[in-house]
Amino acid sequence: MLTLIGLSGSLRRGSFNSAVLRTAATMVPADCELRIESIAEFPLYNGDVEAEGLPAPVMRLKELIVAADGLLLVSPEYNYSVPGVAKNAIDWLSRPSGEGARVFGRKPLAIAGASPGGFGTVRGQSAWLPVFRALGADLYPRELLISRAASVIDAQGQVIDATTRENLAAFVAGFVDHVRARKR
Ligand code: FNR
Repeated sequence: MLTLIGLSGSLRRGSFNSAVLRTAATMVPADCELRIESIAEFPLYNGDVEAEGLPAPVMRLKELIVAADGLLLVSPEYNYSVPGVAKNAIDWLSRPSGEGARVFGRKPLAIAGASPGGFGTVRGQSAWLPVFRALGADLYPRELLISRAASVIDAQGQVIDATTRENLAAFVAGFVDHVRARKR
């Protein structure tokens, strides 16, 4: 059994990125679970809070990622870069010092994203690269860029466009193969 953790970089109820993640979870093979976890309860990073002890939601997600075979991050792009809430979560998950390597080091990681605009989070995805490089993650080398999200995802959060579904299924299958190869 392969276990993947899925994180959305958006907290918005009607999030396109969360919709893509939920759809991805329906596309994994039978011997694989894509477990969707949330960063919504993470406080803002503050070294004083850290010094008093890691917040419970941070500790919990850290151990889930450590135990998982891979991580899928589906994130919006904000101002040509990564969303603050998602970066805040990754920062927490890398603390205290040295934990970044334990949590993310050599961890297979795929990044995808959806945007209502025409560039499908390409700049945001590039902006994630130095973050996960710093943490030593094993980055899946393909991108999944979903543009014009409002026309391919409906109001119920279903990915309704056939080509987008095919691209997502191929991306998920490729990442699962990548994770499986690392596990051998
Ligand atoms: C955006 N948005 C956006 N989109 C994009 O393609 N490139 C960008 O640089 C930005 N910048 C940006 C900044 C801020 C602060 C916000 C709130 C939004 C639009 C963004 O893609 C859109 O709100 C998505 O719907 C966000 O993803 P979710 O919440 O639908 O998953």
